Amino acid sequence: MVSEAADAAAAAGSAPAAPGAGSAAAAAAGAAPAAAVVDRLRAAGCVFAEDEARLLVAAASSPAELDELVARRVAGTPLEQVLGWAEFCGLRIAVEPGVFVPRRRTEFLARLGIDLARRVRDPVVVDLCCGSGAVGAAVAAAVSGVQLYATDVDPAAVRCARRNLSGSSVVVEGDLFAPLPVTLGGRVDVLVVNAPYVPTDAIATMPPEARRYEARVALDGGADGLDVQRRVVAGARQWLAPGGHLLVETSRRQAPGTVEVFARGGLAARVARSAQLDATVVLGAVRQGDAPPLLGRVGDAVEPLLQQAPLPGGNRPLSEKGGSPQAARG
Ligand SMILES: C[S@@+](CC[C@H](N)C(=O)[O-])C[C@H]1O[C@@H](n2cnc3c(N)ncnc32)[C@H](O)[C@@H]1O
Repeated sequence: MVSEAADAAAAAGSAPAAPGAGSAAAAAAGAAPAAAVVDRLRAAGCVFAEDEARLLVAAASSPAELDELVARRVAGTPLEQVLGWAEFCGLRIAVEPGVFVPRRRTEFLARLGIDLARRVRDPVVVDLCCGSGAVGAAVAAAVSGVQLYATDVDPAAVRCARRNLSGSSVVVEGDLFAPLPVTLGGRVDVLVVNAPYVPTDAIATMPPEARRYEARVALDGGADGLDVQRRVVAGARQWLAPGGHLLVETSRRQAPGTVEVFARGGLAARVARSAQLDATVVLGAVRQGDAPPLLGRVGDAVEPLLQQAPLPGGNRPLSEKGGSPQAARG
């Protein structure tokens, strides 16, 4: 249990990109206020105070606004919710209050989804439990001709996802598959899912940033963390196209349980693991014996394969992306 909480703790913030030119407040105030901001953040326990101070200074348009942003951060609001955005696969994703902050590790799910979607002409992709819509946005930005649908049960998440998934994407509110148009039945080529998977008892041990500022429905996966995944897998076959794939993020420790859920749902499953992102994804093919391409057994290195596929934000290692406090946070 504690390890799932630790997973969540490690992922408690995603990584905002480097801001652009400094704001008016920064220009007017010079270096001294930034140093004061660093001191305030450090006193509040922010480990990456310098990085966060730079982002907050750049985001503020006046000293008063900077003071307000820093006060919110010092009070414990996740940095991304204070800034109003997070970086994900090189994209700037809007994050609204209460909406789950897309985690760095989930870029692995997005990259796998992109790789599979690129194998299909004009693929139909569904981002189920989309939150801010970060995964769908990354797929839409990287795959030409994609028809993207996204669903979430939380109205705040749906509003946020609509900001991030403009254009031809369809974002609908409701329980799992329920709000999808019935005409999509049997036509989904790639179904990407980062559903809540924290076991209920482990939520209490999560960092306050997650517990207090992200909706419970975004975290709680039931007694063993796999309740929502069970419902996703149970419904998936009806929606997947022949040869389509279901991709579900899970934790390393929970992966065997997720694989079992896939097997019980009649899907051939494999586990993909990124050590770099500390990320685990289970992939399922729609037919028994129709194993997903790309990936081997648990622990196989898949990153070299993924690096062949250019992403919207480029394929630089995350550690090379500047101005990213959570990159340093791991
Ligand atoms: C862990 S968050 C992931 C959000 C997003 N996929 C991401 O990776 O940033 C889980 C999301 O699932 C949504 N959710 C939980 N139960 C749901 C359900 N039964 N139907 C649809 N969405 C659900 C939550 O509202 C939340 O936005």
